[in-house]
Amino acid sequence: MFEGRRVAAIIAAAGKGERLGSALPKQYLKIGGETVLSRSIRTFEEMDAIDYIFVVAGKDWLQYCRDLIEDGGFTKVEAVVAGGETRQDSVFNALQKMNSVKPGVEYVLIHDGARPFISEEVISNVLSEAASSGAAVACVAMKNSVRKVSDDSSESVDREDYVSVQTPQGFRKSMLIDAYDKAFDDSFYGTDDASIVEHAGGSIAVVDGDYQNIKITTREDLPMENRVGTGFDVHRLTEGRALILGGVDIPWEKGLDGHSDADVLVHAVMDALLGAAGLGDIGKLFPDTDPRYEGISSLLLLQEVSEHLEEAFYRVGNVDATIMAQSPRMAPHIDEMRENIAGSLGVDKSRISIKATTTEGLGFTGREEGIACEAVASIYR
Ligand code: CTP
Ligand code: MG
Repeated sequence: MFEGRRVAAIIAAAGKGERLGSALPKQYLKIGGETVLSRSIRTFEEMDAIDYIFVVAGKDWLQYCRDLIEDGGFTKVEAVVAGGETRQDSVFNALQKMNSVKPGVEYVLIHDGARPFISEEVISNVLSEAASSGAAVACVAMKNSVRKVSDDSSESVDREDYVSVQTPQGFRKSMLIDAYDKAFDDSFYGTDDASIVEHAGGSIAVVDGDYQNIKITTREDLPMENRVGTGFDVHRLTEGRALILGGVDIPWEKGLDGHSDADVLVHAVMDALLGAAGLGDIGKLFPDTDPRYEGISSLLLLQEVSEHLEEAFYRVGNVDATIMAQSPRMAPHIDEMRENIAGSLGVDKSRISIKATTTEGLGFTGREEGIACEAVASIYR
């Protein structure tokens, strides 16, 4: 409640994120372990002034979005609504839903699901002004010089005359609904809610946004991130199997048992990379109940892991792995293992370090019952 009035937030997250071009729409990419969308919702969820939240998701992403909201423990989310072709269609759908399930709402704040760094302060600025004047948008001053361009010329303009528009944008509900109705009647399409209200004759107050409140639009907008992960794997040694480590077929009397080629080194490396990216583990990605993975070269699986990393815009920083095996001697093969792993990951060999140790005859590795491997990986964006 804000001054005794009910307030709803609409989070528009039904876009395809074409300018970013990630496999997963940008609102579902993770920043520091939490999705962009979840971060965008959370600040609203945590404010006493906000009573209800309506999230708009692409029609093919409704379940995905509902799961995310359940995992996030968001208790104010009243509904996940299917979006439309444009942002305006998406917001319109949410407004209709809101009007039918929560008719008592008096103020509405509309926020992009792709603005994860929104602060309580900016939300409060918008809400207070919307409550007093009817319509308010968060804006920031232009930092660069501004030019007006046309096909064949350009002219400098005074940047003091312009501001850059953010969300949230806040409105008295009746004003907003009337404006959306009018826009549809007139086939008017605006890129934000303020332009729609303005089209209906409303005037818009500008309040302070902040520079942190960026919209994730292109790849450069994703913040720099460094992450690490660890991996550990063990396979049993048995007769009648090849010993494949780091993709190298090492001549020896025993080999490792497993569903794939049982390359314990590559498995540990994959788990370290997946762990770093928060993408689960190899068991989740390549279940050993799946016949596709029977006898498969683990280097091919590593290549697939590398593609998953790329889709989330991560690159491999470095990998450091230790093989624990009593015998055979690994030293003659280490270089080739590094080459293979680097090749599957599409990185320079200098980023891959592999070491081997015996365990002094101790434990299952010492008794040559199995081989263990641990790995640490760093990734960055
Ligand atoms: N949005 C929406 N419904 C649409 C289009 C956009 O809810 N049909 C949302 C987006 O999910 C985003 C916000 O509106 O949170 C701002 O839009 P934009 O940055 O343009 O996101 P996308 O449309 O997803 O990106 P792009 O234009 O690059 O495809
Ligand atoms: Mg768009």
